[in-house]
Amino acid sequence: MTMDFTQLDLSESDWPKLTDAQHTIEYLVGRVRIQQEAEWPPLTTDRERDLFDNRMERIRDGIERWVSQVPAEFQGATFPNLRDNQHPERLRRWLDTPKIQTLWIAGGVGNGKTFCAYAIAGDALVRSYGKDSRFNCPVVMNTVDMLDQLKPSRDDHEKIWNRVRGTDLLVLDDLGAARPTDWAIERLYALADHRSSARKHTLITLNRSFPELKDLWGGPTVDRFILNSGVIDFRGSSLRQPITNW
Ligand SMILES: Nc1ncnc2c1ncn2[C@@H]1O[C@H](COP(=O)(O)OP(=O)(O)OP(=O)(O)O)[C@@H](O)[C@H]1O
Ligand SMILES: [Mg+2]
Repeated sequence: MTMDFTQLDLSESDWPKLTDAQHTIEYLVGRVRIQQEAEWPPLTTDRERDLFDNRMERIRDGIERWVSQVPAEFQGATFPNLRDNQHPERLRRWLDTPKIQTLWIAGGVGNGKTFCAYAIAGDALVRSYGKDSRFNCPVVMNTVDMLDQLKPSRDDHEKIWNRVRGTDLLVLDDLGAARPTDWAIERLYALADHRSSARKHTLITLNRSFPELKDLWGGPTVDRFILNSGVIDFRGSSLRQPITNW
């Protein structure tokens, strides 16, 4: 959906109430536009302006498709929507810090780990449209779902495997929740080995300690993700609370 904000009187009462998805689309498109404007030479002719507008339309389509695939609970996940105790500055700095390949977001249930992971993925998506970008389209997967989709019985398991292996930013959400069968342990080891040796960025959210994780998934796998990694520890009570005033 395209909104023409220039036609609106932007006093507060006239400002349209955006859904979470619309907010995120406008925010990401706005950021890509700033990035594109800085990369393009000055637009002096109508033809150049048309080319620019066409490129922005194609980018908007891609961003709309991406946001439509984000679960509704996380569609409002952008950096401006993060809270101070979710360390937005450090999270954003991560993508500018090539030596930190893996970022662990650790913490208790409901602290906003997955929400932050989607905000970072949005940031990587913006970067993917840049010239000479180090990022292609990010992949966010709940670890249980990923292992399910990698089962050889699935027709598209090889396509999924190539996506999770090859993407420049992979989010492995809730690693601690997956069940480490022999097959799952072997797959995760192959993934860790490939991504750490190819120096790819991986964001892992979890609510377990490293020793617990090593017990579950084996030292060699966890060690590969610990190499060149940083940890952000979320604290506080769960953000999932019942609504009282309904
Ligand atoms: N900055 C924020 N603004 C608005 N809502 C938020 C924010 N951060 C998190 N939430 C919401 O709080 C709830 C819990 O967040 P989230 O699911 O990210 O937590 P989690 O740490 O991943 O939990 P779990 O350990 O159970 O997976 C979600 O409904 C999410 O949409
Ligand atoms: Mg989560």
